[in-house]
Amino acid sequence: MNKRKILVTSALPYANGSIHLGHLVEYIQTDIWVRFQKMRGHEIYYVCADDTHGTPIMLRAEQEGITPEALIARVHDEHYGDFTGFHIHFDNYYSTHSDETRHYAEDIYQKLKAGGLITARGIEQLYDPQRNMFLPDRFVKGECPKCGAKDQYGDSCEACGAAYTPTELKNPYSAVSGATPVKKSSEHYFFSLSDERCVDFLRRWTRAGHLQPEAANKMHEWLGDAGENKMSDWDISRDAPYFGFEIPGAPGKYFYVWLDAPIGYMGSFKHLCARENIDFDAYWRKDAETELYHFIGKDILYFHALFWPAMLNYSGYRTPTQIFAHGFLTVNGEKMSKSRGTFITAHSYLKQGLNPEWLRYYYAAKLNGSMEDIDLNLDDFVARVNSDLVGKFINIASRCAGFITKRFDGRLVDGEDYRTLQQTVDERFANWRPDAIEKAFEARDFSLAVRQIMRFADEANEMIHAMAPWEIAKIPGREADLQRICSLGIQLFYLLARYLKPILPETIRQVEDFLNCSKLTWPCLAANEPVSQLLLPAGHAIHAYQHLLTRIDGKQIDALVAANKQSLSADSGTTKTGAKAATEATGGDKPKTAAPIAETITIDDFSKIDLRVAKIVNAEHVEGAEKLLKLTLDIGSEQRTVFAGIKSAYDPEQLKGRMTVMVANLAPRQMKFGLSEGMVLAAGSGGGELFILSPDTGAQPGMRVK
Ligand code: MSP
Ligand code: ZN
Repeated sequence: MNKRKILVTSALPYANGSIHLGHLVEYIQTDIWVRFQKMRGHEIYYVCADDTHGTPIMLRAEQEGITPEALIARVHDEHYGDFTGFHIHFDNYYSTHSDETRHYAEDIYQKLKAGGLITARGIEQLYDPQRNMFLPDRFVKGECPKCGAKDQYGDSCEACGAAYTPTELKNPYSAVSGATPVKKSSEHYFFSLSDERCVDFLRRWTRAGHLQPEAANKMHEWLGDAGENKMSDWDISRDAPYFGFEIPGAPGKYFYVWLDAPIGYMGSFKHLCARENIDFDAYWRKDAETELYHFIGKDILYFHALFWPAMLNYSGYRTPTQIFAHGFLTVNGEKMSKSRGTFITAHSYLKQGLNPEWLRYYYAAKLNGSMEDIDLNLDDFVARVNSDLVGKFINIASRCAGFITKRFDGRLVDGEDYRTLQQTVDERFANWRPDAIEKAFEARDFSLAVRQIMRFADEANEMIHAMAPWEIAKIPGREADLQRICSLGIQLFYLLARYLKPILPETIRQVEDFLNCSKLTWPCLAANEPVSQLLLPAGHAIHAYQHLLTRIDGKQIDALVAANKQSLSADSGTTKTGAKAATEATGGDKPKTAAPIAETITIDDFSKIDLRVAKIVNAEHVEGAEKLLKLTLDIGSEQRTVFAGIKSAYDPEQLKGRMTVMVANLAPRQMKFGLSEGMVLAAGSGGGELFILSPDTGAQPGMRVK
């Protein structure tokens, strides 16, 4: 076999949030692919790290009263524990806050600079005069310049969906201190991505088979056609105070977190190389013959498909062989939501005692190597795992093993019976070859692999079912038949198990113990070799069957969802939506600081607001609106139509019939989708974290709230 040398990474999770089921799509996908390649005997390394730099992490540490170093050390342990809990095996799990990453960040920067691709110029930004720091977009809040909604972030409005710059906000305030920001200019460093050299290079690179077709098209939109240069230079510096690496020769200036984040892949690998004596250069030098793959989510595609290859190319390193982007996770067809309890952390899943391999299997059954979003439908999850894994796969062993142990001392058939068994397998199960499954795994089309494996399992079950060993066992004198049937069942189970090993590493480890066989590898069958080559030897002895995988009880899922609802205020992980992806690009997660208390008003001021108890008689989606739901509110004397920006947190069906509170005398506002005649009241910072108010039972539509 031609032994490939492969380096694989997953995106580096931010060190200020918990790992949730969305993240796990990526790490499980990567881990399955890596395990598959390892089983085939290739030399493959899987490295990752925490992404530790940037303003949110600096501020989070400050809030907790600890150093950023202490925060990232703690989160590192949490993340590592979560990944291990899901059997995600890294060859190295490191941190971007490392000497190795600093070394390569400086090295790449110096080389880009020497190549004339770094320029400096002054830019004006909002500055917090109280905290003496520049404010990333997400840390400026104020009123939306379009619709006037209060407490909106500096980049986009969650009420009307408008996008703008922080300097356009009305009555802006710093989310860090509450102070009114001022404009201040400072010198920043830019990577000259708009340089014709870079643009030409990227036009070629993005079309050279390194990206999925849909990703290549996206990047092409960003780049524009030849002659229409759409790229702008990339701001790679931030001013102190900042948690990161200081730029050499530029005191008080730091590398922007997204500059050193992908370099963290190199840093983590370098750390592994030192420990295991691996040749780092063979994986990173320009003419390297090794393969390099980055698994990422579609939200961070342009960092990996544009900025990163350009950085590497102009600093004398190789570029990735391929970028594998996946879609986003939805739960029950909707964005993960804290109020619905579907923003489920990895930790809570494990803590509730759910088997991590259930989720690995379900994700595998859904992932097809494209950038489509994948849905975790909780009912389907229960049904699928129970019917496929337990009902089809485990069942084969559990129905046959007991007889082999009790009646035949653990021995499978040998001699003439073994030869007959081989023949049956070669005739009836000739299609159980690894070829197609192998192709599907290689192409990351795990759903196709799973479908094939389950078809095999169906075939095995049909045969066992037709031969009904549990009936034969009752008939005296049919011992030999019983041993033949059950041996066939065990042999088929053994054949299947290896194909599931990348997905279910722990279960299959137990299967290896139970079947008393050596570690399963990926079978190499030459085209003319029969499947029976892969069977356990004649007369092989197995161990007693121990319970391998249990069924999921729907109640466990209810408990999981309930637990994630309860931990609402305690949990500070953040939801990430398409619109917010751009925010992530600025290194920003939502700050935890609540808005400062507003200016004092008199009771007369307050009484100007006519608040009414309202019954939501209808709630529906608005075609084309990303954030809005259309509500019909009954306030006793009349019905009102209100467009509310609560789609991210509420399902219309959930709202129908509910009582809430509305501002009844707000001037009606013409919106793109119709006239909005008032406003419902809700708390929370937006996204999945939105809570509409409800009056106590007994309140009637139209009652005034005073
Ligand atoms: N720190 C950056 C990545 C730097 S890589 C040099 C980052 N971190 S993240 O924690 O926000 O996300 C880590 C990975 O998880 C990303 O690839 C992201 O796309 C993926 N996912 C995060 N939420 C997800 C879902 N809800 N669904 C699927 N993948 C998601 O981005
Ligand atoms: Zn707005």
